[in-house]
Amino acid sequence: MTLLEVNNLKTYFETSQGLYKAVDGTTFDLDYGEALGLVGESGCGKTTCALSITRLLPKEGKIHGGEIFLEGTNLVKLGDDEIRARRWKDVSIIFQGAMNALNPVMKIGDQIAEAVVLHEKVSKRSGIKRAEELFELVEMPKKRINNYPHEFSGGMKQRAMIAMALACNPKIVIGDEPTTALDVMVQAQILNLLEKLRRELRMGLILITHDLSILAETCDKIAVMYAGKIVEIGTIEDIFERTAHPYTERLISCFPNVGKEKIIPPGIDGVPPNLLEPIKGCSFYPRCHKALPICSHVEPESRNLGGKHFASCHLSGEVSHEQ
Ligand SMILES: Nc1ncnc2c1ncn2[C@@H]1O[C@H](COP(=O)(O)OP(=O)(O)OP(=O)(O)O)[C@@H](O)[C@H]1O
Ligand SMILES: [Mg+2]
Repeated sequence: MTLLEVNNLKTYFETSQGLYKAVDGTTFDLDYGEALGLVGESGCGKTTCALSITRLLPKEGKIHGGEIFLEGTNLVKLGDDEIRARRWKDVSIIFQGAMNALNPVMKIGDQIAEAVVLHEKVSKRSGIKRAEELFELVEMPKKRINNYPHEFSGGMKQRAMIAMALACNPKIVIGDEPTTALDVMVQAQILNLLEKLRRELRMGLILITHDLSILAETCDKIAVMYAGKIVEIGTIEDIFERTAHPYTERLISCFPNVGKEKIIPPGIDGVPPNLLEPIKGCSFYPRCHKALPICSHVEPESRNLGGKHFASCHLSGEVSHEQ
């Protein structure tokens, strides 16, 4: 059985100007021990996708369509109580700037223990023991569970957040820009840790970032999001060596190779479409350097380009399934 299957997910926000289609037909899957990277410009719907899977959307955000199957159970159909009971055990999330999510007046070990006690219905003592084990797992001395958040460096706080996210042995961990606020060295350590944990614990990992180069080193698959949709998805080789979508091409060109002469990345001209308005044709058409006349009025379907490589672009040729 597949660990996670997201089918045609549509998550919209109710705003004073109308429905904002932040995620509009997103499809992907994730297997045990697999790492999927989700990348795209600010506002393309990455966090909304993560909040939909964990059912942590703000009240103005609703899932309007699609399914999220976790080991065969459709999370979209679960009631609030059922979701609450499963949260942290099924899917946990490490947020962007997660350090602020820690309670400043509570020892870190107590915060982790509290989550364990709440969800696993064990004694406080077992909760503390679990906090110590988790600290060892995230490579921190276990006596540090007696510290308060302000006694930790940024990297240590992020390790503590990872320990917290792992408290109830989740099947999937989502890291939403988990290393953005950290310096490059610490960032690499945290990513290596997540990488090690997902292999050892066979967790599914969804890593969200703006930075394609991080995903190339940490993930098995990459999903490129644009304006609420995944426009290309595939293995690292598919995305970097058999790039099919012009938007992916532009994203890659924004990240000059490490070690090469430093150049200012070109960026991508123009802005993403307004998701309050219906989109005609391809959503990337107005910014696309390869656009064809058809792109202005016919929305490209997602096409299989071989294996698990899919792209939504009129320029990409479909591979017949009979081959
Ligand atoms: N509560 C909300 N009400 C209305 N619109 C929202 C709300 N939350 C998010 N949005 C909009 O939905 C879109 C997608 O937001 P989301 O946070 O998912 O983007 P993102 O890809 O995670 O961006 P970033 O890289 O900046 O974190 C954005 O345009 C955002 O303004
Ligand atoms: Mg985000």
